[in-house]
Amino acid sequence: MSIFDQPMNRRHTNSFKWDAMEKVYSLKDASDILPMWVADMDFAAPEAVTQALHNYLEQSVFGYSFISDDAKDSVVDWLHTRHGWQIEKESILFRQGVIPAMANILTALTKPGDKVLVSTPVYPPFFNVPKTNDREVITCPLVEENGTFVYDFEAFEQALAQDVKAYILCNPHNPGGYVWSEETLKEIVRLCAKYDVLIISDEIHADLMLDGAVHTPLAKVAGDEIDRIITCMAPTKTFNLAGIQIAYMIVSDKKKRAQLEAVITASGHGSLNNFAPIALHAAYTEGKPWLDELLVYVSKNIDYVIAELGQLPGIHIPKPQGTYLIWIDYRELGIDEKDMMKRLLEVGHLALEPGTKYGVEGNGFLRMNVACSLDLVKEGVARFKKALA
Ligand SMILES: Cc1ncc(COP(=O)(O)O)c(C=O)c1O
Repeated sequence: MSIFDQPMNRRHTNSFKWDAMEKVYSLKDASDILPMWVADMDFAAPEAVTQALHNYLEQSVFGYSFISDDAKDSVVDWLHTRHGWQIEKESILFRQGVIPAMANILTALTKPGDKVLVSTPVYPPFFNVPKTNDREVITCPLVEENGTFVYDFEAFEQALAQDVKAYILCNPHNPGGYVWSEETLKEIVRLCAKYDVLIISDEIHADLMLDGAVHTPLAKVAGDEIDRIITCMAPTKTFNLAGIQIAYMIVSDKKKRAQLEAVITASGHGSLNNFAPIALHAAYTEGKPWLDELLVYVSKNIDYVIAELGQLPGIHIPKPQGTYLIWIDYRELGIDEKDMMKRLLEVGHLALEPGTKYGVEGNGFLRMNVACSLDLVKEGVARFKKALA
């Protein structure tokens, strides 16, 4: 039995995934709904993380602290050993999350009214963060090729040419689980350089590579253009630590780093909670075996869903190369999204993410999170079938 088979009761723990469904899905009662939506895992974090936090708790002193050099070194080592990417320790700027980091970057390095480009479908805050920071969002859809989505570089260049100031890249891609090739990434850099566009590369899913896929950090293949890139990463998606809130930016350009530091200071949110660097350090120094086992487990969960649901008439599920998210294509069924969600919630008692949350291009898709025990995945599959029957 795998550690990931252990049942996990998260109801009544203020879990967003398990306890916020009434609000998110406008339901009177969600007590019988199985949540396979928001991207966290129904797994205990690595034992080493829990132990490190325990050790800290036992001191019972929670005064001000700073981020240790050990924590920074563990980031440098992790990126080097996991992704073959050598960074300078000085280039790391810690934040409470990738989304707060994104807001800081837009504030520091773009102006109100500036155009920000995103490739759709994509993780919803890519639209919302620029919009709520008074930037104009321009979308350029990914296009379908052999059952997967790829860049249309002609359209991408036309979009960049509309005086775009920043591009937000999802590398690897949420919701599709696509792992971009070095060639694709180099072309993104080349075109952004041509139009002098800043690139925010969100690589929070980088560690979640399946079946031998290899993540390429954008900055690693950017050559002379490295200074136009700000990479955002975190151990939170990888090790299920989202509620602990820690992420970091890698900023090689000193000037941009100073501008970012000024914005962070001005925000008044300069420091992290004391638990965050401890969890990060334990995860990065001792979490590798846990992660390696997790990835095998998740891959099998995905295979199960594809074997059971991918064969249903009108349903297509290409296997993601990364993430624990499955992007289910039901367009051939011709069912309207509202109707599909109603069936899933009211008949199947199953909460998935509706595709249009990721942009209009997501119409006819659902996102399913399978970072849970195989027993729950089986239950989810049965509920999905019931909803469609
Ligand atoms: C692509 C992507 N970026 C960022 C986040 C959230 O990052 P954080 O919790 O560090 O703000 C998520 C969470 O699902 C994500 O999928």
